[in-house]
Amino acid sequence: MQKKILILPGDGIGQEIVAEAVRVLDCLRDDFGLQVELETALVGGTAYDKYGTPLPEATLQLAKQADAVLLGAVGGYQWESLDIALRPEKGLLGLRSGLNLFANLRPAILYPQLADASTLKPEIVADLDIMIVRELTGGIYFGQPRGIRTLDTGEREGFNTLVYSESEIRRISKVAFDIAAKRGKRVCSVDKANVLECTELWREVMIEEGRQHPDIELSHMYVDNAAMQLVRAPKQFDVMVTTNMFGDILSDCAAMLTGSIGMLPSASLDENGKGMYEPIHGSAPDIAGQNVANPIATILSVAMMLRYTLNEPDLAGRVEDAVREVLDDGLRTADIYSEGMKQIGTDEMGHAVVAAMRRR
Ligand code: IPM
Ligand code: MG
Repeated sequence: MQKKILILPGDGIGQEIVAEAVRVLDCLRDDFGLQVELETALVGGTAYDKYGTPLPEATLQLAKQADAVLLGAVGGYQWESLDIALRPEKGLLGLRSGLNLFANLRPAILYPQLADASTLKPEIVADLDIMIVRELTGGIYFGQPRGIRTLDTGEREGFNTLVYSESEIRRISKVAFDIAAKRGKRVCSVDKANVLECTELWREVMIEEGRQHPDIELSHMYVDNAAMQLVRAPKQFDVMVTTNMFGDILSDCAAMLTGSIGMLPSASLDENGKGMYEPIHGSAPDIAGQNVANPIATILSVAMMLRYTLNEPDLAGRVEDAVREVLDDGLRTADIYSEGMKQIGTDEMGHAVVAAMRRR
């Protein structure tokens, strides 16, 4: 059956990297029989410029109708002074909550070809393969009340609310246990249960759910220690599951272990496996339009889409193998360049991946 994919390039380098991922999708459709129909819409700053909102209703409706969404990135200097409700990031957050994409999967995998690109010693990161499962539609990102108020004294006060219901914790824990069952069978739940009641409950519910999954080894770690352990001995982790904000921070940290944030895809899933797929990195306005951005994270996001929503594991493998082959061939964008390799641009990287897919 024909599946609908909504393409949301967004801002900055989003345009260029998504174009290369679309090249991969076109190849899958034309040469490998993938039955997909692509549609494109605006989100983020570019949507704000045209419609006065970072998430036009039409975009949200198209996203709801689609089977999967492929997103580039949002944000840029020119929108930084806007009211927080109109900022490009609100477009992304609105999609996440509007589509109930509560489970964010952020793999951090080190490709052996890039071991030199990590800032950590090769022996610390060799063969690294971590999956961070980040709760994405709750916690302090969405908790009410929130705002900036003026006190009787005339002083202003900013406030946000960290809140998780038992059912929100339970459903994300299930995702983590299910993923761990297909990998190394270990889950580390990250919290701050020594200070925050909300995450005391988080830990309690994780322990309860853990009892339902006796084949999975469950451990717990405070977030400050988890940050330290990620750079000290990252290979101790298999699956990490954590709150929205802790996951935001730890996934950037984990990404850098792999050398470049330009390599890492992500999936944001709802209860039924519908998903939005996007690179972990941002819109990098400083290099936008220069054909230097690395499109691999977005291309690997297509692979995750094939695996998690379109149920095409073989095609997912084909895309991932093609990326490996291109790296083996020594082709590198600027962010992963090292001496002796061949530096190429965004579009050449896309072409090279497609050529490798066809060769296999
Ligand atoms: C991410 C980003 C977003 C987040 C921003 C752009 C709103 O940092 O996807 O990690 O904080 O979730
Ligand atoms: Mg982030």
